[in-house]
Amino acid sequence: MRYDNETIEKVRNANDIVDVIGRHVRLTKKGANYFGLCPFHGEKTASFSVSPRKQIFYCFGCGVGGSVIDFVMQYENYSFQEAIKALADNAHIELPENTGYEDKKASELRARLLEVNKEAAIYYNSILRGPDGKIGLEYFRDKRALRDETIMHFGLGYSAKSSDSLYNYLKSKGYDDGLLNKSGLVTFSEKGTRDKFWNRVMFPIMDTNNRVIGFGGRVMGDGEPKYLNSPETPVFDKSSNLYGLNFAKKSRQKFLLLCEGYMDVIALHQAGFTNAVASLGTAFTDKHARLLKRYTDNVILTQDSDKAGINAKMKAFPILYEAGLNVKVLDMGQYKDPDEFIKAEGAEGYERCIRNAKNAFIFVISVLRDSFDLSDPAEKTAFVRETVDRLCMFKDPMERENYVDSVSREFMLNRDELMRMTERKMENGGSYTYRDLPADRIASQRRQTVSDAGTDDVNDTQTASYEMLLISWLAERPDLCETVFGYIKPEEFNMKSCRLLAEAIHKHIGDFEPAAFLNSPELGEEERRNAAKMFAEPDRSGSILNMNQAEIEKGLTEAIRAIRSVHIDREMSACGNDMIKFQNLLRDKNALRDFKVRL
Ligand code: GTP
Ligand code: MN
Repeated sequence: MRYDNETIEKVRNANDIVDVIGRHVRLTKKGANYFGLCPFHGEKTASFSVSPRKQIFYCFGCGVGGSVIDFVMQYENYSFQEAIKALADNAHIELPENTGYEDKKASELRARLLEVNKEAAIYYNSILRGPDGKIGLEYFRDKRALRDETIMHFGLGYSAKSSDSLYNYLKSKGYDDGLLNKSGLVTFSEKGTRDKFWNRVMFPIMDTNNRVIGFGGRVMGDGEPKYLNSPETPVFDKSSNLYGLNFAKKSRQKFLLLCEGYMDVIALHQAGFTNAVASLGTAFTDKHARLLKRYTDNVILTQDSDKAGINAKMKAFPILYEAGLNVKVLDMGQYKDPDEFIKAEGAEGYERCIRNAKNAFIFVISVLRDSFDLSDPAEKTAFVRETVDRLCMFKDPMERENYVDSVSREFMLNRDELMRMTERKMENGGSYTYRDLPADRIASQRRQTVSDAGTDDVNDTQTASYEMLLISWLAERPDLCETVFGYIKPEEFNMKSCRLLAEAIHKHIGDFEPAAFLNSPELGEEERRNAAKMFAEPDRSGSILNMNQAEIEKGLTEAIRAIRSVHIDREMSACGNDMIKFQNLLRDKNALRDFKVRL
């Protein structure tokens, strides 16, 4: 399924985790470890830890963790293969050609699809500049006021009037039907083979690494649909990419501008606002928000001024806030979108709008207010209730109070009354949910409760924490494995997640290395996460390395005694009518009283 272990280890060892992560996250040294703000979820206090000795990272806030390979996979949205490639490149290691595995097939398909997309982008762009593309070029120049350098910068193109010219071109380059079908650029049906896009101006969509992952195509007149987009493919995930981010991430502005359309992004960049991005004709997701959070702490919403645009802002705000971003809303007055605004008022006008951008929460409440008739007492009450609901999204009491203050001032509501209502709602657990919890978050919370409370086999937090502690110590002191497993057998661990880990570590006695272990194929995704959490725990709560021998012996004794005792209890209650077994267990249990670990 992947590169052999030796290669993986070579690549991993050649990439120091602190170096690699340090390129993306500002890390501060604390004791033997480094801490920073987690790039995978929004946070204001640093709970993201990196251990140089163990070569692992772990976020105590959101539970992501693993080796340097896992970090690159998650940070860059790479497959395992791609991460290995990137890290190998980074360390100037030549990778062996590997053959015949599933993973390889998938990443090869992705690589081929990226190639096809790039070829198509080059093709569309060349048509735009040739005789057949005149109509497209005129559209961009005259109707959309784009300069030639802008057209080239964004790689814009034109899909010709005939309905199979891209298909023929790509075939002539040697790409087969199967691949072209998967690319979504060509459709195959009984009626024949057709290009998905024809007679449209083309917008190649790039990921943050400038790779073309799909296209948007616009009709030049009033046809329907106005925009056609590539379907989702193995390389095109609309919910985790943003148009223009490949350029915006380099803009070195303190904030990013979030708009709706490709043309808005292009018009803004042309006017000097190279920090504009747009979602890809789909709803804004928490993945988008986390993606933005990698590059900035501040977002200004500048979606369209119409109803749909207002709705888009209302929806995007809580998602962005959750991801830890400060959000403002820009008011374009009478103009529909940034593109129109810039055409009419120019860059200075837009600059002014940016300076006047308003706090997004105040914007949300003012939209609410406008949807009620405040002269009617019943409606006014409903408005206040809605406002109170939304104030509950601020979990931090001081932040909440600040918002109560400014909302009451802005909307002329009684401050004390608003405060009282909000606090009462909070006390009743009233947190306002604007939206469904995103599925991946639910999954990670569930994972966390499993490992925190260890409810899989025994519902006993104390046993759970002893078992996790023991595993975390083995990660700190692999040399202790042999001794520890002399006192307790892996199958005696009571929590399934810990038991699996104990068994796996047991198999590696003598060559146990935490980071390598995290990438070992026998671990499932959930076990890998649990392992990362346990391995990282001492980085926060104190390391066995700072303990003397007597303390270690005492700690091990306590933990092993507790774990074995629970295990014996379980065996006892499961041994049914077997009297002999019961008595043996009872003897074991009594013996535990005098049990003592000696190193
Ligand atoms: P222009 O009219 O070219 O200025 O487009 P716009 O960017 O102002 O478009 P609009 O606000 O209508 O749409 C914003 C974004 O929504 C576009 O950039 C597309 O990504 C997407 N979109 C618009 N119309 C369609 C459509 O008909 N189909 C699909 N799939 N997406 C669309
Ligand atoms: Mn527009």
